[in-house]
Amino acid sequence: MQAMKKFFIQTFGCQMNVYDGQRIAAMLTKHGFSQTQNLADADIIILNTCAVREKATNKVFSALGRVRRAKKPDALFGIVGCVAREAGGSAFKRIPDLNFVLGPQSYHKLPEILKNPETKLLNIDLTGLEKFDELPQIEKSPAVAYIPIQEGCNHCCTYCIVPYTRGRELSRPFKDVLKDTKHASETGAVEICFLGQNVNGYKYTDSDGKTYRLSDLIKETAKLDTIKRIRFTSSYPTEMTDDLIEMFKEEPKLLPFLNMPIQSGSQNVLTRMNRPYSLDLYIDIVDKLKSARPDIQISSDFIVGFPGETDEDFEQTMEIAKRVRYINSYSFKYSPRPHTAAALMKDQIPESIKADRLAKLDSLLNDIQREFNESCIGKTMECLCEGPDKTGKHLVYRTPYMQQCIVNGTTQEAKTLVKINITAANKASLRGKIVTD
Ligand code: 5AD
Ligand code: SF4
Repeated sequence: MQAMKKFFIQTFGCQMNVYDGQRIAAMLTKHGFSQTQNLADADIIILNTCAVREKATNKVFSALGRVRRAKKPDALFGIVGCVAREAGGSAFKRIPDLNFVLGPQSYHKLPEILKNPETKLLNIDLTGLEKFDELPQIEKSPAVAYIPIQEGCNHCCTYCIVPYTRGRELSRPFKDVLKDTKHASETGAVEICFLGQNVNGYKYTDSDGKTYRLSDLIKETAKLDTIKRIRFTSSYPTEMTDDLIEMFKEEPKLLPFLNMPIQSGSQNVLTRMNRPYSLDLYIDIVDKLKSARPDIQISSDFIVGFPGETDEDFEQTMEIAKRVRYINSYSFKYSPRPHTAAALMKDQIPESIKADRLAKLDSLLNDIQREFNESCIGKTMECLCEGPDKTGKHLVYRTPYMQQCIVNGTTQEAKTLVKINITAANKASLRGKIVTD
């Protein structure tokens, strides 16, 4: 009997890629492959890639070097996702023995390389979302099911490669998304996280002319009994429409936590980023969210050292961070990307200044995060069990604010929601005890 063929997949980058990776794994399993964690064992090797910053792209090419050295001589290998789209055919020039390069919306074409291993498979079209229909479902849902509802972005921020790699915004049919949430709820999900580069821009008009928004998806999903928590990421500030804000008031299953990146606190920088909202409007939206849900907390992404950013601009970013008190943030040094307008702007900021500003902002964001974590001590929160930690002596839980909470013991079953009293906190995590009534 012939030994079962094996695949190896490594995923870089965002949650959307994690999801895509799961679908690719399901597809290869259906083709009779089994997954291996050992490169040298694999018959097909897939790097599922991210191109958002230069460092991410470089990581992929150095990983490809490692793959070439470690793989079996006749194993097929290639890249899928954003670097595939960014590099296109030039990836074959850089690495001549590469077998396939498939963009984020064409990885369902992967089986073609199995049929014709001698060819070079290149497909970086961004014409539709058939991949969602053509790939088999993930069989058993994890406790948190990430469900993409739209892909791509129409905002065209001048630093961002995403509109190039993932294309213009496309929303999935309302019914298809609900089919996925139902499937997830029937196969073990407790929490649904809707995904999209511009998730709150979700808009789908069906053949009867009825238009559905993210708020409609939330309402329908909340009706599923086994689903206890709902969230979505990542949101564009000015697409936080009133119907969506209202959901935070009306739908208790919607968690009081929102990722709504501001990127910079300087009006000038925002304009050059092509994020044409006023800071006053942003603050208004935050206030509206707070009146809908007084316990809501917000997280953000920040870019420091955008071309032309002055010390004063940077100080304004520090100010906005203090004002909104983001409880959990990601901050990055600006990285020039191909196919973007900002890469061509004059006044690129020297690396040393970027590093300096990043250190200052990170230190402030860490202080704010620690302060919020400490303010949770003494409170009781309903948390979702993720299972044991690495030591096997504790259980890891997620609070409604996505904080990690560690609890002594090993008896609680993963996927259950329990009330936990928070007893200690630091920057990275909380500790707590299960409340027994
Ligand atoms: N340089 C640095 N950070 C970037 N991001 C997107 N493009 C760039 C870039 N060229 C950050 C933004 C975005 C997050 C996913 O990555 O903050 O919200
Ligand atoms: Fe990129 Fe987000 Fe801007 Fe869209 S809104 S262009 S994904 S940073």
